[in-house]
Amino acid sequence: MPTMGVPLLVRLQAYIEPLFLLSISVGYLPITLLFHPLLLITSPSSFRSKWFENFWRVIGPKMAASEIQIDHIEELLSRAHGTVLELGPGAGDQMFHYKKNQIETLYGAEPNAFLHPRLIEMAEKKLLGKFIPLEAGAQPGSLLPALKKAGLIPGTATSLPEEGVFDSIVAVKSLCSAPQDQLAATVAVVQALLKPGGEFLFFEHVENDTDSMTMSYAWLVDWIWPVFMGGCRLKGKVDKVVIGMGGWDERRITTIGDFKGHEVFRYVKGICRKA
Ligand SMILES: C[S@@+](CC[C@H](N)C(=O)[O-])C[C@H]1O[C@@H](n2cnc3c(N)ncnc32)[C@H](O)[C@@H]1O
Ligand SMILES: *[C@@H]1O[C@H](CO)[C@@H](O)[C@H](O)[C@H]1NC(C)=O
Repeated sequence: MPTMGVPLLVRLQAYIEPLFLLSISVGYLPITLLFHPLLLITSPSSFRSKWFENFWRVIGPKMAASEIQIDHIEELLSRAHGTVLELGPGAGDQMFHYKKNQIETLYGAEPNAFLHPRLIEMAEKKLLGKFIPLEAGAQPGSLLPALKKAGLIPGTATSLPEEGVFDSIVAVKSLCSAPQDQLAATVAVVQALLKPGGEFLFFEHVENDTDSMTMSYAWLVDWIWPVFMGGCRLKGKVDKVVIGMGGWDERRITTIGDFKGHEVFRYVKGICRKA
């Protein structure tokens, strides 16, 4: 469906959205520099994590309150039960969605250590001692050693336990920040880590190729976007990856809102049950 008929003003409004977020993030750069000048020299990657934490401390709760998204995220996270793994929980701003009495243990794989204090504090409030933080990303090379360290998978085995480990694996706007060239491998490991009948529940923004002008614009913005957004990329493909693989009993992937094609962000929610 071509969307060339979209009025220019409507298009510009859609294109300003990422720039608006960028400009807020830029505002936290001098603050981070002021309080952590040495970090930039001693560890540029830690500096970036600290910068993102300063930014996310303010923006995370606002995003989590977004009226367009909140009910969809609620639908997903309220399904989580038993032993749960969340990929990139950030500062725990989405944690209030979990149904506490349904959850045995929630493991949160959050690579940004600066977010951990607030994440743990939030978990204390919402999940009362049922939370275990892991300092790891979603990509297998980072996640699997952390799961071994936590005693969730055997330290010596070369393959993952046949019977799976988790009843639910959750990702909310975090897989865009994991290495995109490893996305297929990451989702394959997610599937392998699920118990039979377990569910992969995700809410992510993904690319859409119906509008070439928007695609070009997103390609351009994506040159600087990850620097300001904690490594996030605009060209998410988790929907395509999930659709392209077998091993699911059921997969429901839905686009959120009245997406028309010219928007930079297309949000999807996914409920995928492992066979
Ligand atoms: C946009 S924030 C979303 C945080 C949280 N899920 C929420 O909705 O409030 C993206 C999160 O992904 C995390 N992240 C960065 N790299 C990651 C990776 N390789 N794997 C998983 N998460 C990652 C970031 O640290 C950050 O907490
Ligand atoms: C783009 O979005 C439209 C509307 O949600 C959808 O029908 C179409 O399949 C999407 N295209 C891709 C490549 O995801």
